[in-house]
Amino acid sequence: MARTEKLERDLAAAAGLLGAARCAIAFTGAGISAESGVPTFRGSGGIWDRYDERHLELGFFKAEPALAWATIRAIFYAFASPFEPNDAHRVLAAWEREGIIDFTITQNIDGLHRRAGSERLAEFHGATTHLVCLRCGERALATEEALAELPPRCPCGGVYKPDFVFFGEGIPEKAYRDSAAAAERADLCLIVGSTGTVYPAASLPRRVKARGGSIIEINPEQSEFSADIADIVLPLGASEALRALDGLLRAASAKNGSDS
Ligand code: APR
Repeated sequence: MARTEKLERDLAAAAGLLGAARCAIAFTGAGISAESGVPTFRGSGGIWDRYDERHLELGFFKAEPALAWATIRAIFYAFASPFEPNDAHRVLAAWEREGIIDFTITQNIDGLHRRAGSERLAEFHGATTHLVCLRCGERALATEEALAELPPRCPCGGVYKPDFVFFGEGIPEKAYRDSAAAAERADLCLIVGSTGTVYPAASLPRRVKARGGSIIEINPEQSEFSADIADIVLPLGASEALRALDGLLRAASAKNGSDS
């Protein structure tokens, strides 16, 4: 994307805020994985334009597990062409190792942050990697063979549910606790690729703002955050924006190094 002078200024300002932050956290949504080929939920061609959200409601799943599982496997288990992390995931993992960011909260269940190397991470809506038995709580890996027959069944005979959060289900306790703690200590939140429409996840960047923190948003489109809480909006794709910010931060640290 050709960059206007304003965009260049905003990138420089965002890099300055990131470099000066005492405790910066990242908050990511489906948009960060779009460039990995993972479909987003909303926006043109989104998952909810093509599939019935009801199939991901706990009540429907328990009543019609085979029907719900057919939708779930179609959406989330692309075994034939597995998704890979992109540069955006890799930059955030590198920034965690270098201390530029303290923690990443993701709404995504695709596991790509973990595969890119992020460790200080909360998967707020769980992940597709595991199944959990609705009868005995047994967990199993969500492999292609485990999903050959639908609905997949636990040795106890119970139905396996994917271990991610359905509509109407609670947030995993540890993910909630870790994310709330991160929002309480952060003085900057970098939002990447979220419409900001789903709660309680969307309350986390708002908490950072309410405590006086700075908000930087990366999203080619307007979101619920943009006009409300964002101090800087970078209307770019996630990997382009994060590569640009990474370049600016490295140039600044090289300059500081040569000045000292
Ligand atoms: N880079 C950055 N952002 C992008 C890109 C990209 N390349 N492509 C799309 N986006 C933005 C879209 O503009 C949109 O704002 O990503 C956002 C995707 O929004 P949603 O699909 O609503 O995803 P998200 O906000 O993560 O949804 C939250 O809703 O259905 C539930 O549990 C599901 O975690 C999900 C939650």
